[in-house]
Amino acid sequence: MNIKINYTKGTTPVIGKDLRFGTTFTDKMFEMDYEKDKGWFNPVVKKFEPFSLSPATLVLHYAQEIFEGQKAYKWKDGRVVMFRPENNIKRFNISATKMCMPNVDEKLFMEALETLVWADRDWIPQEEGQSLYIRAAMIATDPVLGVRSGSQYKFFIINSPIGCYFLEGFNPIKIWASDTYVRTVPGGVGEAKTGANYASSLRGAMEARERGCTQALWLDGQEKKYIEEISTMNVFFVENGKLITPKLTGGILHGITRDSVIVAARDLGYSVEERKVSITEFCEGVTSGKITEFFGCGTACVISPVGEIIYKDKSYVINNFKTGKITQHIYDTITGIQYGKIKDKFGWIKVIEPRE
Ligand code: COI
Repeated sequence: MNIKINYTKGTTPVIGKDLRFGTTFTDKMFEMDYEKDKGWFNPVVKKFEPFSLSPATLVLHYAQEIFEGQKAYKWKDGRVVMFRPENNIKRFNISATKMCMPNVDEKLFMEALETLVWADRDWIPQEEGQSLYIRAAMIATDPVLGVRSGSQYKFFIINSPIGCYFLEGFNPIKIWASDTYVRTVPGGVGEAKTGANYASSLRGAMEARERGCTQALWLDGQEKKYIEEISTMNVFFVENGKLITPKLTGGILHGITRDSVIVAARDLGYSVEERKVSITEFCEGVTSGKITEFFGCGTACVISPVGEIIYKDKSYVINNFKTGKITQHIYDTITGIQYGKIKDKFGWIKVIEPRE
């Protein structure tokens, strides 16, 4: 299927200085539609503009929606690259299947990404920590109020020039381990990248902020005992020099940055273990000094050191609220590959070939 090009070329980017996450958008987008009997149709790169949807549209009532977050970079030599886009495409289709939605052909998805990112190349900020955040999403568009999965869908991609995800930048944050709310439950859709998981994290995130914390740390939905993730990040900690991350048990997002950390850390000579970690074990490890570093990781923030956890009203400070050496080493390695400063021996970088 050929992607139609329908935007005005040569427009001037309006990027501004404030690159707070997800507040500025480029002037183009990709869009295509799906009908059960027709499959996907009308793929187009066009002007960024609002959709017109019936107030009865399925997604607005029952949240049948999925998305992906990924990034593009413009290197100093002018090359435009994406980081592991094929992994995002695969994960998008896994989320689609979990949410009873149609898959998107992988080649068409990649072509849409490359076409749109290339068209938006002058919008990619180039300072340290900056990038073009790419948001692909799919929504159910049937105008019907019956609770069922849709037969019509819209797939779209928008781009946003960004700086650091957290106002703290690459500096330690404080988080609240929620023993009240849960993000997801066994048998639920915790592994899917669907808006519903983020909606159920809002209350906990609000209470985290009321406690002076940046985000909430989620425990498992059954026993509220095992550490799962922070809403926008997977988590790692360093115990006796070894990196530990919660095992993917069904409720945790299969983070692409999580996987990159595991691969890069092992390559750097660190041992990495994936296992269940209870919050009690974690707090005891911090108190005894066995646990010396803690960080979150995700596409938006890349790596975010965690300097303090509040659990059951008690504070646990990690590494004197300073970024640890291993955290820094992994951050430097992954961002070094993303910004073209370190050789990509893992095949994670996809260079976008210049096109019309
Ligand atoms: C990402 O890291 O891309 C995420 O999905 C986090 C986002 C919800 C802000």
